[in-house]
Amino acid sequence: NYYAILMAGGVGSRFWPVSTSDFPKQFHDMLGTGQTLIQCTFSRLSKIIPKENIFILTNERYNDLVLHQLPEVEQRQVVTEPAMRNTAPCILYAAMKIQKENPDAVMVVAPSDHWIEDEHAFVENLQQSFKACSQDNILMTLGIQPTFPNTGYGYIKYQKGENAIKKVTQFTEKPDYKKAKEFLSDGTYLWNAGIFIWSVNSIVNAFAEFQEEMTALFKKGLDTYNTKEEKAFIQANYALAENISIDYAILENAENVYVLPATFDWNDLGTWGSLYDKLDKTESNNAVVNARVLLQEASGNMIRTSKDKIVVVDGLEDYIIVDKEEVLLIYPKKKEQDIKEVLKKVKETY
Ligand code: GDD
Ligand code: MG
Repeated sequence: NYYAILMAGGVGSRFWPVSTSDFPKQFHDMLGTGQTLIQCTFSRLSKIIPKENIFILTNERYNDLVLHQLPEVEQRQVVTEPAMRNTAPCILYAAMKIQKENPDAVMVVAPSDHWIEDEHAFVENLQQSFKACSQDNILMTLGIQPTFPNTGYGYIKYQKGENAIKKVTQFTEKPDYKKAKEFLSDGTYLWNAGIFIWSVNSIVNAFAEFQEEMTALFKKGLDTYNTKEEKAFIQANYALAENISIDYAILENAENVYVLPATFDWNDLGTWGSLYDKLDKTESNNAVVNARVLLQEASGNMIRTSKDKIVVVDGLEDYIIVDKEEVLLIYPKKKEQDIKEVLKKVKETY
């Protein structure tokens, strides 16, 4: 009864110029391992979930990319969205499809683009969560020990207790900096890893309670799901769903949220700097992917080229140096969050 939905519809704009809306980061080998991020995620999940029960949720424009990169996946496992509506609508839609196929299903929702060090621990944490969610009507998430006041994550306050799985008393999605700092110094908060576990019944019920309109919308198509008529229904209706993430739509509102503090190292590879942190470094602390380098007075740089180019750097510290075809980005690492905005400007200008 174990299922997975793999979220692969994001654009990864802070990883520009490598990640683009035509070819987002989950389809790139960001770590230089020979495998793309979605391939790593799929193989990690298939250690505990039957391959045929792993569904990939993505925008319809990435359908062929998914099939190409995951040859073991069949077309019926690629659930495509005709419009970008963030994570809540696609999770509800997929949960209803799976519920129809197997009302006893318990599923994990996993981002396709994260880095997880210890696969063994990951599988153990999942197993424990699956078990709990098969027994109880709960919504679970995996929690990460926070290290700095990151405002791009969800923060979880939980009740201390004997059990490994803790009751969440407050879920705050993307707090402002002041709040994030408070949460961090409080010491009892975890980051939301964005990896959720629940039974299809629990999540569909939670949507019915907190997202009535969205539930009504997707219920209308129930008869068509897993049939030939499904596509036409989704084409006509999907874009009507509210654009909202699962965190705001459900996790911030529900009472029955629980967290398992994860025992594996985790990084959401959200920015060039977080990738830099995870890569092996040269003697002078530069991270180099797909490039042959000659470095002098260079440290803390993240260097990546598209074609194993020769890169010569002298007198530069803590920069991102990345090229792809017609674009070359040289940008301070400390301003990595602004790359999203930079990309907007570039699009307006050229
Ligand atoms: N199929 C599909 N459709 N997937 C999507 C869509 C969509 O419209 N939008 C985003 N995704 C995918 C992304 O590719 C990513 O794998 C995952 O869903 C999460 O979306 P993000 O856009 O990366 O979310 P976030 O980073 O802002 O925040 C979430 O993750 C954090 C941890 O990385 C939240 O869950 C936070 O609470 C959490 O801390
Ligand atoms: Mg993310």
